[in-house]
Amino acid sequence: MKILITGASSGIGEELSRRYANADNELILLARREQKLQKLQSELLPHAKSVTTIVVDVTDFALLQSKMREIQNLDMVILNAGISLGHSGNIATIEDFKRLYDVNVLSNHAILEVLLPQFKAQKSGKIVFISSLASLISMPTSKVYSSSKRALNAYAEGIRYKYKKDGIKVINILPGFIKSEMTDKNHFHMPFLLSTQEGTQRIYDAIEKEKRFYAFPLRFYLIIRLLNALPNFLSEKIINLKK
Ligand SMILES: NC(=O)c1ccc[n+]([C@@H]2O[C@H](COP(=O)([O-])OP(=O)(O)OC[C@H]3O[C@@H](n4cnc5c(N)ncnc54)[C@H](OP(=O)(O)O)[C@@H]3O)[C@@H](O)[C@H]2O)c1
Repeated sequence: MKILITGASSGIGEELSRRYANADNELILLARREQKLQKLQSELLPHAKSVTTIVVDVTDFALLQSKMREIQNLDMVILNAGISLGHSGNIATIEDFKRLYDVNVLSNHAILEVLLPQFKAQKSGKIVFISSLASLISMPTSKVYSSSKRALNAYAEGIRYKYKKDGIKVINILPGFIKSEMTDKNHFHMPFLLSTQEGTQRIYDAIEKEKRFYAFPLRFYLIIRLLNALPNFLSEKIINLKK
């Protein structure tokens, strides 16, 4: 399989790259930090069929799309690159809000605008979105991030319906807390926190089983479902206790 993984220089993307490094797979690893990508490339080259890197800021849409046009015969894209603004609770600046949406939402469309016609032509292709449990509930301190992942869910759902008949499969993954550079910045108790390896293994298994929607850990997902099912006044009270 030829697989493109965005955000491959750290955390979930880096670990997923390791999972997919075997003799059958040609890996394309994408991120901004060239040295980290090169180090990972050297580590994975002995195990994978091939490993190439793309050093690009995904918010540079023109450059990103020109890099995408160079890729042929791709089997799967894992849209993993993402950022958060932390959990300070301060009002986000419009610049930060825009940057977050550029990375978490728009860059994925910049990639798919190029790849979807290719997938359509070859009548196959897997698109994996890395969303978040945060898309299902908006905490007072992470509303911009939550809203971006909720937008991603809606977009992923639409892509799934639209391109099903073209043989394109859409997999949407909603992880809870997983140890990474992103969560290392959180200075609060993260319920059900998983190690990078454990979290990534679950994502890998869900992709391999072609689950259309996979939200985990299950207990955390069920708590969120329960909170959402409560009358508004009650869920507001509970959520604001955590502020
Ligand atoms: N960790 C969690 O608990 C958790 C939970 C739910 C969902 N997620 C999602 O999982 C994904 C991976 O996050 P992570 O936890 O593994 O965090 P991470 O370690 O911070 O990794 C983020 C990755 O995205 C890349 N990236 C960020 N901005 C970029 C840009 N402008 N251009 C290109 N690449 C960019 C980073 O690479 P460079 O800095 O080298 O560019 C890095 O490889 C994100 O979409 C995140 O929202 C994480």
